[in-house]
Amino acid sequence: MRVVMLASEAHPLAKTGGLGDVLAALPPALAAAGVDVTVCLPAYRGILRRLDATGTPLRLHAPVASRMEAAAVVAIPEASVPTVAIRADRYFDREALYGPPGGEYPDNAERFAFFCRAALEWLRRLEPPPDVLHLHDWQTSLAAAFLRGTAALYPELATVRTVLTVHNLAYQGRFPFDVWPLLNLDVRYFAPSWLEFYGQVNYLKAGLLFADRITTVSPRYAEEIQTPEFGEGLDGVLRTRSEHLVGILNGVDYAAWNPASDPNLAARYDASDLRGKARCKAALQAELGLPVRADLPLLAIVSRLAEQKGFDLLTATLPELLATTAVQLAILGSGDPTYETALRQIAARSPGRLALRIEFNESLAHRIEAGGDIFLMPSRFEPCGLNQLYSLRYGTVPLVHATGGLEDTVVEFDPAAGTGTGFKFAPYGTEAFVAAVRRALRLHADPAAWQRLMRNGMAQDFSWHRAARSYARLYGQLPPPEVPRLA
Ligand code: ADP
Ligand code: GLC
Repeated sequence: MRVVMLASEAHPLAKTGGLGDVLAALPPALAAAGVDVTVCLPAYRGILRRLDATGTPLRLHAPVASRMEAAAVVAIPEASVPTVAIRADRYFDREALYGPPGGEYPDNAERFAFFCRAALEWLRRLEPPPDVLHLHDWQTSLAAAFLRGTAALYPELATVRTVLTVHNLAYQGRFPFDVWPLLNLDVRYFAPSWLEFYGQVNYLKAGLLFADRITTVSPRYAEEIQTPEFGEGLDGVLRTRSEHLVGILNGVDYAAWNPASDPNLAARYDASDLRGKARCKAALQAELGLPVRADLPLLAIVSRLAEQKGFDLLTATLPELLATTAVQLAILGSGDPTYETALRQIAARSPGRLALRIEFNESLAHRIEAGGDIFLMPSRFEPCGLNQLYSLRYGTVPLVHATGGLEDTVVEFDPAAGTGTGFKFAPYGTEAFVAAVRRALRLHADPAAWQRLMRNGMAQDFSWHRAARSYARLYGQLPPPEVPRLA
């Protein structure tokens, strides 16, 4: 089975969130399960820096509007699975992946339309072609539409099956109709039953309609997105594809996220000896300028600053919580400037209680996972979520909104039975959230019960093998491609 994955992120080459983590870990897990995987990314500035002078790039041209745009396909040395990047410096040699903080590059529609076209040009030249083309999110969704909607351009790829994984339905790649000519698709595809979405062009919708199979990153989210509440306007489309939609829970790369071997930490630990965790907490408090106090519960957040992640709940409740409760709070995040400002104001009013770091800092993210006592993830919705899974392994008890992958991976602690791994709240709102925080703090005051809870979490196994097996099975069962008919 030969699979090519097109994606816009893969850690450590390019990452803004969990998508990067998935593309770092799923391909090697698939390789271990016997699947031959190649990953294809845009050659961003961070990737260009890693390229060595050896190897001859494959040069090609891809149609964008009425032009043929030049690209080079370069192999990335020392990647965990074969990895190539599509080089076109005018599109990808930039400071960021998608745009400045909280914003987007004005030509993102063109950048990713080009990426998909160029990737197909490269695939045409592979001998033999791959069995499966696995796409991730809106940035690569058009590849499915191009492959079928302009099939005459790709006769070599007629047998290739396509899978689209939706990591987050909230990001759809919607653009004004002006971008349509970039795509070189028949204008009859600009209709509500195709790529049109309330007058705009919707890239993700292209993938949802043209991919042979759709997956998303937890079983619960697969159900949720078929409802108006979570469907982001695409629940109708998803319901029509219900039979071909499945939720496969993400895993954790325990080689990268393991407190017993994590090189980012002040000390290492595991469930049998938690002394190192206390040292990590003290070191984190010192690093962040918080009083070094073992007795105070340290709440922690590592997150994109986005609506999705529950920052409206947090900014509404944190001032009072910090004023009335003996806790400390560490927040690492970057993204939406509105939340940045709101959090800065709260931090200014809570010196010595709230440590705020507005940046993207991979190493600090590991130290916060290790040094915290309670990890807050009050996401309004969460396709899978990886940080709650990292927290479990680091003995940092997750407190989550019961939604999506959070609902699928965290079990409310039952003090009487000693079972469960964290705290969950529903419905989404300040009252239920604060009640869960109070529940957690009460239990934290009982060291024996708390240790039990930590150990329950640390014993969970969310490794990638299981997900890799599910994807491999899905690839194996893909029927011959069906070409949707343009009536
Ligand atoms: P999402 O993909 O929606 O952002 P996930 O929980 O799936 O959420 O994954 C988030 C990933 O991004 C984790 O690896 C997390 O540690 C990382 N991350 C998010 N924000 C930051 C930040 N400011 N600094 C470092 N890592 C971050
Ligand atoms: C998205 C989702 C997150 C998920 C990640 C990886 O960014 O927001 O829930 O864990 O993708 O699939």
